Amino acid sequence: MYLYETIADLRQAIDNQRKNNLSVGLVPTMGALHAGHLSLIDASKAQNDLTVCSIFVNPTQFNNADDLARYPHTLEADCALLEAAGCDFVFAPSVEEMYPTSPVLKLNFGELETVMEGAFRPGHFNGVGLVVAKLFHIVQPDRAYFGQKDLQQVAVVKRLVRDLSFPLELIRMPIVREEDGLAMSSRNRNLTPDERRDALELYQALSKAREILQTGNSVEAAKTAVNEHFQAHPAFRVEYFEIANADTLQPVDQLQAPGATALCIAAHLGKTRLIDNLIL
Ligand code: PAJ
Repeated sequence: MYLYETIADLRQAIDNQRKNNLSVGLVPTMGALHAGHLSLIDASKAQNDLTVCSIFVNPTQFNNADDLARYPHTLEADCALLEAAGCDFVFAPSVEEMYPTSPVLKLNFGELETVMEGAFRPGHFNGVGLVVAKLFHIVQPDRAYFGQKDLQQVAVVKRLVRDLSFPLELIRMPIVREEDGLAMSSRNRNLTPDERRDALELYQALSKAREILQTGNSVEAAKTAVNEHFQAHPAFRVEYFEIANADTLQPVDQLQAPGATALCIAAHLGKTRLIDNLIL
């Protein structure tokens, strides 16, 4: 496995490989890697000759300075995990390398960013879109891998690919969970032991809502049950619970065709913001 810190070095290394007609898979990350990220590496390895993982804590997508400052940086441990997983190239640029000047370009994803994460994290998807577009230009992958954990991000990147004609296939991978159901996340390592115990309530609430909908009850009934669930768990400050179309992310008032309804939640537990979703 090779580690590159500059765009020029990474490009040259990929160009050398592409001369042999090798296909390239890209897994963009912000590091602090866990089994969820590694599932994307595994998928890329299975479908491509060369797998590139980027590790870059992208400042333009953080609308909260504290959240950026608290984001874990664990490059050495990440590289050990990636090496063991059989990743070929790691790209870990500095902020100056990615943004020699502060970008003036603004990306607006329309109604995709007026809901949920977009509504609660203004400017977040502009930053995601910028960095992902840069990574697509730098790496020119045949396939790029994103987790359903960040469902709205998948929808935004899908739009980016379509609107800017990136010649690549976007692949959405399922959420990898801890044994108790908590969705794996780099932010989980910021939880205190008490918070970690409480954290599974997020998945419990989503599972309750799923059962309510799948037994023929209304969207309102599911929302009421989730509200009541968190009234009994006051450690959480829920930002939103939405029942939405899994592609457009717009709210729906009834269960859609299989695979098209998403139950999405975001909540603060202490200083940590957690998100999760289920697709029905
Ligand atoms: P990050 O949060 O590091 O996540 C990198 C990728 O791993 C994302 O596609 C995310 O959805 C996926 N992922 C995270 N947790 C997962 C889990 N439990 N199961 C499956 N996949 C999971 O998302 C970002 O970084 C950034 O926004 C990025 C796309 C890198 C742009 O900066």
